[in-house]
Amino acid sequence: MPEERMLIVGGRRLEGVVHVSGAKNSAVAVIPAAILSQTPCVIENLPNIEDVNVSVETLRYLGATVEWNPLEGTMMVDASTITKTEVPLELSRKMRASSYYIGALLARFGEARVPLPGGCDIGRRPIDQHIKGMRALGAKIETSHGTVIAKSDGLLGSDVFMDMVTVGGTINVMLAATHARGVTTIYNAAKEPHIVDLANFLGSMGCRVKGAGTDTIRIRGAESLSARRPYAIIPDQIETGTLMIASAATHGDVTITGCIPTHMEALTAKLLEMGARVDEKDDAIRVRSLGEHRSVSFKTQVYPGFPTDLQQPMSALLCTCIGTSRVVENIFESRFRHLAEMERMGANVRVYEQTAVIEGVPQLHAAAVEASDLRAGAALVIAGLMAQGTTEIYNTHYIDRGYEHLEEKLNSLGAEISRIRG
Ligand code: EPU
Repeated sequence: MPEERMLIVGGRRLEGVVHVSGAKNSAVAVIPAAILSQTPCVIENLPNIEDVNVSVETLRYLGATVEWNPLEGTMMVDASTITKTEVPLELSRKMRASSYYIGALLARFGEARVPLPGGCDIGRRPIDQHIKGMRALGAKIETSHGTVIAKSDGLLGSDVFMDMVTVGGTINVMLAATHARGVTTIYNAAKEPHIVDLANFLGSMGCRVKGAGTDTIRIRGAESLSARRPYAIIPDQIETGTLMIASAATHGDVTITGCIPTHMEALTAKLLEMGARVDEKDDAIRVRSLGEHRSVSFKTQVYPGFPTDLQQPMSALLCTCIGTSRVVENIFESRFRHLAEMERMGANVRVYEQTAVIEGVPQLHAAAVEASDLRAGAALVIAGLMAQGTTEIYNTHYIDRGYEHLEEKLNSLGAEISRIRG
């Protein structure tokens, strides 16, 4: 397929109202969790993004019956027709969340073969904690030629202590524990909003999950689970944040509707500190910005700290703030590659291992730049909106993995973004 480029004419102020889509990182966990239901499941508010398409392909490959309506964001999954427990390499390498098929297939069918997952290249991303947790429930797991082979004759609820806070590890052990006999307790669990969303989805199928959103999650396994009503996933925290940053970056006035403002506190605090104005309603956030922005410093942390997924878009904005900002990336080893691209646009940045020191410049200039991963792509879009001239972003497929109609949404607010092929 010919390479697509995104062209952004910089300098347009964003203004208006935009609705946020369903959360990518919830979608890619809730969809494999549908495997656990004896009855057909209906999932709503799913974003029309590439990672959801890969999830659909994976379920269909396994033999599930899937009706996916991308325009409405609704999916029906009937897992009763599943005949396979093996995910092929060409699908698993496309996204990190492929690892969730290990927990879901193991729980429902007692076996899974899943090649080690792909996903964004942002540093080392082992799944040792996922495996450790499932082994604690009694699964026999080996990795052979890059494929995880998991088996069990019946999992048993157990205590699982995570060595570090891991979103994926917490989700995978939750999925595996749904059919384990007795109670599984996950200590040092991740608290991200999509963990709570998955717990609510499992609850809607009759699984008893307590403590999601705290660092201790308890799951009582059930012999069988059945979806009883449609389940709508939560709005995307990271898309909301990206749009908030885009508003500030263009000195705009944007209201993001359908979001959950309490998920955004870490970002909101930094935007306020920088000099932007943020007003919250029950399910909307308005970000306004008129004057210059001051530099701010932050460290990425697990929820409710500043999310690593917003570090890249936020550090793009910091490139034009007055003064020196320091950004410490604590979660992934290699998540500053967008800054090297932004140097082509006139950004003044030094990176020392996990710390980026950003000296604000008055103006960025358009250049041809390359997205190295999903959020790096979002960061370059923010940079393009701020820059003078027309920025060209290569590798737009990364952006399509996780943002639904990003350029249409930004254009509806006054941006001038188009795509060309070849
Ligand atoms: N880690 C291990 N061993 C494990 C699991 C994780 O050492 O078994 C380490 C990782 O190397 C990393 C840290 O623990 O340094 C945190 O990783 P985590 O498992 O929390 O991340 P993930 O599950 O791979 C999810 C999101 C990411 C998001 C992170 C952190 C999904 C599908 N992905 O990844 O989202 O950055 O949590 O919040 O939910 C994105 O949306 O752009 C994205 C990359």
